[in-house]
Amino acid sequence: MDSDFSVSKLPSHVGIIMDGNGRWANLRGKPRSFGHKIGSKNVETIARHAFSRGIKTLTLFAFSSENWLRPKDEVEELMRLLERYMNKFRSSAVENKMRIVVSGDRSPLSDSLIRAIEKTEKATESFRDRTLILAVNYGGRQEIVYAVNKLISEGKPVTESSVSEYLYTAPFGEPDLIIRTGGEIRISNFLLYQGAYSELLFTDVLWPDFNETEFDKALINYSGRNRRFGKVE
Ligand code: FPP
Repeated sequence: MDSDFSVSKLPSHVGIIMDGNGRWANLRGKPRSFGHKIGSKNVETIARHAFSRGIKTLTLFAFSSENWLRPKDEVEELMRLLERYMNKFRSSAVENKMRIVVSGDRSPLSDSLIRAIEKTEKATESFRDRTLILAVNYGGRQEIVYAVNKLISEGKPVTESSVSEYLYTAPFGEPDLIIRTGGEIRISNFLLYQGAYSELLFTDVLWPDFNETEFDKALINYSGRNRRFGKVE
């Protein structure tokens, strides 16, 4: 890594919608599953790089609550990759002092995937400086409904701050920057509540091609943004 990279302002929390795996594979005459495989390898590359740049929290959209509607084979392949990821990268996450947290509704996941997630979360829970959140069976609307229902069931008032506190990953705060790879310009139900004031960056680069240089370009772009949070300067 070059040591002279410096920007005037760094996001603390970055979210990424990792889109474009299927197209990346098809462009190479390969099945979509190949794109997911290469895309899943890129998760570790980008996580390590982001943390080396000083990012504290990285939230990656790995499987949306709508992705169950994809062909059965593709869903099974994504689930297999997630389980493999959870088991394979556990020790390197520990070595790199990287906390791994899964956010989303895990109830429909297989027992073995849930066990792998729990084992990895447990093995890395003491690390505080670098957190990789994987959103799995996650939907922003689903998360808001979950938070509101939990507040109601506990007899608590529903306010902007109480909803924030009951979101799946409340302690990790709101993303300063949300990146979407793959050319589409939409948010697709990702971090709807937390992303209210996030800076958004859309790139045509497909996720498997989104390398360290592309991540740095996003940081440089972010450093030039003027965040006003609805106020005037
Ligand atoms: C979108 O590509 C990507 C996903 C459905 C989720 C991202 C999944 C991974 C990167 C792999 C699994 C992750 C881990 C952590 C093991 P797409 O299939 O929609 O691509 P397309 O838009 O080109 O069709």
